[in-house]
Amino acid sequence: MEDGKAGAAVAGAAHGADESQRAIGIDIGGTGVKGGVVDLELGEMVSPRIRKPTPQPSTPDAVMAIVEAVVRELIDGGWATHGMPAGCGLPGVVKHGQLKTAANIDQGWVNAPVQQMLADRLGRPVAIGNDADVAGMAELLFGAARGQSGTVLMLTLGTGIGSALFVDGRLVPNTEFGHLQFHGKDAEKLLSATARERRGLSWKRWAKDFNQFLAQVELYFGPDLIILGGGGSKVYAKYMGYLTTRAPIVTARLLNSAGIVGAALLGHAEAQEGTASLPALESVAPAVS
Ligand code: BGC
Repeated sequence: MEDGKAGAAVAGAAHGADESQRAIGIDIGGTGVKGGVVDLELGEMVSPRIRKPTPQPSTPDAVMAIVEAVVRELIDGGWATHGMPAGCGLPGVVKHGQLKTAANIDQGWVNAPVQQMLADRLGRPVAIGNDADVAGMAELLFGAARGQSGTVLMLTLGTGIGSALFVDGRLVPNTEFGHLQFHGKDAEKLLSATARERRGLSWKRWAKDFNQFLAQVELYFGPDLIILGGGGSKVYAKYMGYLTTRAPIVTARLLNSAGIVGAALLGHAEAQEGTASLPALESVAPAVS
């Protein structure tokens, strides 16, 4: 466990927090499975943040056993209840309750009935969405892009590069800009936080490449605001001075918990609306003009 906000959560319980406004958020990544209980009115995690390494090979069964362990820890700690809905962010294109691509996770995920498998494992309703899409939604509702109209682009820098594109508060799901071609390769293979380390690049040298990538994305979509999230945004101070975009850049305000908060939002929205897809969140998105 890490990043505990135990004090806040205990206070919430003591004051009889509204359980119906809470959901479990799980963020499955190439290197870690992270989870917590989120209060959707506050837009923040009210339990400790639990993180366990993603097992290798990262098959659905192996990863789901870890997800189950994370949720069990949240239940045992008194944070999650048995009926609490859950949402899960996954590192690939998500459609119809399935993962359609898997760049940083075992290929066994592709076309498996992931949503159903997770619901069976966890014994509760589960909604799934792309990890960057849900993180972006959390930033739009509670963080750096709150109430922001126009075109907002969130990029997550981690094992891969995730993207979430919003137009006047509406998500264009599954954009996958991390797989744009860059110098003849998959962009994230050269530019993700993991790739920078693997290539042994200085921040300045990495930023030179990243600027070219950003220029390409700006040419295509003309964002009014760019949000950087994921592990790479925690060290923004090391490279912010080198970035040369037209649009302003900010870092994710929810930092590494955006994926958990967004996943919980999705789980909660589905449980309420009875719909399984990320655009269901439009119903809870802030009105922007
Ligand atoms: C996947 C995206 C994901 C990103 C960050 C990429 O490799 O294709 O779907 O959002 O990694 O996890």
